[in-house]
This record gives sequence, C-alpha cells and structure tokens, in this order.
Amino acid sequence: MVKVVFIEHDGNTHEVDAYVGESLMEAAVSNNVPGIDADCGGSCACATCHIFVNPEWISKVGERREMENSMLEFSDDQKANSRLACQIQISEEHEGLTVEIPEAQY
Ligand code: FES
Repeated sequence: MVKVVFIEHDGNTHEVDAYVGESLMEAAVSNNVPGIDADCGGSCACATCHIFVNPEWISKVGERREMENSMLEFSDDQKANSRLACQIQISEEHEGLTVEIPEAQY
C-alpha cells in the first residue's frame, strides 16, 4: 500500500491508502473521496474522475494516452496537469502522490 493525497477545491484533504496495481480512481472511490464519481467505472469514457496532478508528480504518473486526451478535451477546466484518475495505475513509486480535484466535479 502507498499513501496518496486528494485535495478538494476547498482545501479539504483526504490521505488514503492505495493498493499497488489499482487505479488512482479506484483508491478514491473505495475511500469515499468526494468529487470522483467515476461514472464509467474506469473505461476512460466519462471524465468524472478528472484531477490535477501536483506539478512535482507529473513525471512520475506517466503520459496521457490519446483516448484520455480526447476525453479531457470536453472539460472546460482542463489544464496542462489534468489527468483522468482511472488512467493512473498506482505503483510503489507513488508514495505521497498528491492531486487536486477540480471545483467543477462537485
Ligand atoms: S472513471 Fe470514467 S473516465 Fe475515469
């Protein structure tokens, strides 16, 4: 398990334990983190798991894939550090990974 941190738009912080191999979205949902609805269940088809990756962590979460890019194009608040949490697979090197949840997700 590794600790990952979700910060809501209002600053409310959720530090949760994530299993290596699960997605960041799954870690949020199983720990009842608000703002991550994950309507499509992780199929990269809804963008309701949109998060902003803390800039310090960008290089460690990998690159967006084409499908993810396409989904994020529909988000009005997309930024350079936007990702879909269902497309980030937790690994040992993600201890301390910190992401913010966009205000539009509430
Ligand atoms: S859960 Fe639907 S795109 Fe991530």
